Amino acid sequence: MENELSGLSATFDREIDVANTLKELDSIRIKFLGRKGLLSVFYEKFGKLSKEERPKIGQILNSMKNKIEEKITRKVEALSETIPSISIDYTMPGYKIPAGKYHLISQTIKRVKDIFQGLNFDIADGPEIETDYYNFESLNFPEHHPARDMQDTFHVDGKHVLRTHTSPVQIRTMEKRTPPLNIISIGKCYRNDPLDASHLPVFQQVEGLMISEEVNFGDLKGVLKIFFSEFFQKETNIRLNPSYFPFTEPSAEVSVTCPICTNGCPLCKKSGWIEIFGAGMVDPNVFKKVNYDAEKWTGFAFGGGIERLTLIKHSINDIRLLYENDVRFLNQF
Ligand code: DAH
Repeated sequence: MENELSGLSATFDREIDVANTLKELDSIRIKFLGRKGLLSVFYEKFGKLSKEERPKIGQILNSMKNKIEEKITRKVEALSETIPSISIDYTMPGYKIPAGKYHLISQTIKRVKDIFQGLNFDIADGPEIETDYYNFESLNFPEHHPARDMQDTFHVDGKHVLRTHTSPVQIRTMEKRTPPLNIISIGKCYRNDPLDASHLPVFQQVEGLMISEEVNFGDLKGVLKIFFSEFFQKETNIRLNPSYFPFTEPSAEVSVTCPICTNGCPLCKKSGWIEIFGAGMVDPNVFKKVNYDAEKWTGFAFGGGIERLTLIKHSINDIRLLYENDVRFLNQF
């Protein structure tokens, strides 16, 4: 038995010498020390030995078991220490993870909100599926009035439309709140317009409303001048030309000095001016619909396209580019 044990010891020494992975060491441990391992056979035989033989063989068996355990443990430790320094080079440059950014339209919306909030305007909201009452009637578009044809409407059913503008939020806000108030609202609008370089069937508008005991056209012009100068990050002048909207009287078409050029470019069609918003003084008929005293309160309102603001700011000549989501285009801004 002594000979057999020294043979086993030699086998173990050979195998442990060539093992160089943790997996191999684990197999060696199972092979020699496992419950059905090579050493267990000797422990079984040990039980059948005579009293005289036991002490000596017992000692050999125990010291062999200790030696095997110790050697395996030492080699596991040595391998564990060397593995990280082989597989990780801490001096390698890391991977750069591409950072996301706001979409151009989101950038515009954020900027518009920031500027108006800085001017003490609150943000208001309204539904995109609107009743005929809020989209038209309350805004002084009587039924069958030709002004309804100014906007090609998507009808949902007899009573509901996809809102054609954000102006209904004016009415919803006035119904909920008492004056004075300053609000803007930004959101999606829908019109049955054919898609081209300057029209989308789904687009976004910003709407503004300021009501106080004494506001006038000069205040409207002042607020818009501050807004556009901030938005284009350039001193911008405002021009108001007479226009018509049923819910404002008088009404105006707002133009701004071209933010790109000083003496004429394709964007302003060489005129130096760009039409950008609709605006006006709140019509007394609108105040009547929300039970505001038209003798006491005065207000101005304005509204325009978020996409148009974006196109002008960045000199982009086709509105469709904003929604194609080609990252090669979007990454430029
Ligand atoms: N709602 C108008 C449109 O979509 C834009 C507009 C014009 C809004 C004049 C206003 C305003 O608040 O006062 O064409």
